[in-house]
Amino acid sequence: MKIGTDIAKAAELLSLGEAVAIPTETVYGLAANALNPDAVLKIFEIKKRPLFDPLILHIGKKEQLNTLSTQIPAVLEKLMEAFWPGPLTVLLPKTALVPDLCTSGLSHAAFRMPNHPLTLALLNALPFPLAAPSANPFGYISPTSAAHVFEQLGADIPYILDGGSSTIGLESTIVSALDDTSIYIHRLGGLSIEALAAHVTIGGIQSHSSSSPSAPGMLESHYAPRKPLYFGELNSLFQHHSSARMAILSFRNAYATDRPHLILSPSGDMHEAARNLFAYMRELDASDCDFILAEPAPEVGLGKAINDRLTRASVR
Ligand code: TXA
Ligand code: MG
Repeated sequence: MKIGTDIAKAAELLSLGEAVAIPTETVYGLAANALNPDAVLKIFEIKKRPLFDPLILHIGKKEQLNTLSTQIPAVLEKLMEAFWPGPLTVLLPKTALVPDLCTSGLSHAAFRMPNHPLTLALLNALPFPLAAPSANPFGYISPTSAAHVFEQLGADIPYILDGGSSTIGLESTIVSALDDTSIYIHRLGGLSIEALAAHVTIGGIQSHSSSSPSAPGMLESHYAPRKPLYFGELNSLFQHHSSARMAILSFRNAYATDRPHLILSPSGDMHEAARNLFAYMRELDASDCDFILAEPAPEVGLGKAINDRLTRASVR
């Protein structure tokens, strides 16, 4: 069986240098031994990911940073204390132990402790960290279930560790230290700006519309379905697109239509909307339509990250 909950099997494959899909609370990852460049290379090959897009290192214990990072800024220490394990990724200066392949040659590596019982148990059973990007072909929507991974990468990987549906549904928020008290947000994600701002000063935020990203990998076009997705207020999109071939992804309102139509959260719950976002984009992509119309979420909490993903998925 390619899909299962056998941690020992996943650990054995990873120890042999294989790539294995793992569940996390944000999205599923395609994992390999971060300290073995041949294993890491398999991730890039399977995903068809360009080598200039660096990977996040996943750890099960904070002490692992002692050998992987040369220094931990106080402001990031504070955030790791507050939010690990969880949807927070921090950029830290790396030691020589971390292969350049993981960071695309950058001096800093990205680290995260995911909050998922199976994956934490796996990480704590392994003598090395796991490099893991989202387990989707490069540029496509991230997977939030084992079935999503199997559909696209099932033929290319030996095992998918099944931890159920991802409870957050958006990739981690990526931050770096600007000084002793402030941080820069490189990617909006499953940890909201408001939650971070309760602990530290937000010194800057990478805009998704930037044409000169601050780091490799902050690519503008990403998370995209195969069908064109148009993003904006639905009433204005309806005027420009023929309703006969559309599918609709709305935030909380139901629209009278016989076309494929999904609602992220009928009660307007932002966490539920985040959890449903990628699965619903996949479902509409596979539905009988020529294009998808999607409306923005309110710009609060995880709504900003939801809108970031929809913008990057959209035709512009
Ligand atoms: O929630 C997540 O972060 C998921 C799960 C599997 O942990 N992982 C994930 O990985 O979203 P990925 O590869 O799809 O996105 C990671 C992004 C890269 O595209 C890049 O933009 C940024 O993290 N990144 C990684 N290492 C970096 C580095 N050293 N410097 C700057 N950005 C980095
Ligand atoms: Mg990704």
